[in-house]
Amino acid sequence: MMTTSRLRTGIAGLDEMTGGGFIRGDTTLITGPPGTGKTTFGLQFLMQGISEGESGVFVTVEEMPQKIASDAMNFGWDLKRLEAEKKMRLFHLRSEMLQAGGAPIMQCLDIVNAIGAKRVVVDPISLYSLNVGNPTDLRRELYAFVNYMKESGLTLVLTHEVPDIITRVSRISDYGLEFIVDCIIMLQYVEIESEIRRSISVLKMRGSDHDKAIRRYKITDRGVEIEARFEGYEGIMSGTARKTGAQAFIEAFKR
Ligand SMILES: Nc1ncnc2c1ncn2[C@@H]1O[C@H](COP(=O)(O)OP(=O)(O)OP(=O)(O)O)[C@@H](O)[C@H]1O
Ligand SMILES: [Mg+2]
Repeated sequence: MMTTSRLRTGIAGLDEMTGGGFIRGDTTLITGPPGTGKTTFGLQFLMQGISEGESGVFVTVEEMPQKIASDAMNFGWDLKRLEAEKKMRLFHLRSEMLQAGGAPIMQCLDIVNAIGAKRVVVDPISLYSLNVGNPTDLRRELYAFVNYMKESGLTLVLTHEVPDIITRVSRISDYGLEFIVDCIIMLQYVEIESEIRRSISVLKMRGSDHDKAIRRYKITDRGVEIEARFEGYEGIMSGTARKTGAQAFIEAFKR
């Protein structure tokens, strides 16, 4: 029987949430509205790999590599130095490449092979999707990309932008992205008692048990860190949480 090999994600608490880390060869989608830390998640995943001797490629769609590198410095991640040491590559997928036709995402494979990368991040795949062809071509193209990664034993993280800040999630894409990926991690803003909190949940993970709880997380100068679950609240995925009946009762009793 084939045993699955697990990769440490580098994000404190996420290995526990995913039943021991990401599965080698799998593709994980990280969805979230602006500023939830998608880019940071992706970089942190690559930094963990590098610390274990696995090189990585960060594909930035549209956003300038210089900006990614200077933001990364906030967390003490020196991408320029790591690039010079051939431990990572920042690859810029520009709009011209997207409009030129073909399958621009396949161009990443040369870079991936050039440094023998083991971890690859595409940030954000949603922007790529907006620029490329019709939904059927797009799905076929992404499917081929994801399969190539799997067959080569590469582990892939795709980030996905959700336009609404607070939203009841009903679907992720209209070209089947949620079915192409093996694992989906959802980042959300939640309003609780007039405060905005950040929440994380693992929506699906093929071939693995995983945490079903919705947890808090924070971003500090060390990156993303998972915290405790939201106790005593319901309706978190709707973006506006309410106290559960039991919690409201306990608090009324205390008063
Ligand atoms: N040094 C830091 N300490 C604490 N929080 C930070 C620090 N640097 C960044 N952040 C937080 O991280 C957020 C940005 O993270 P990131 O760029 O990874 O998000 P994103 O989801 O990729 O955003 P976008 O959708 O705009 O691309 C900021 O909004 C800020 O709240
Ligand atoms: Mg980003």
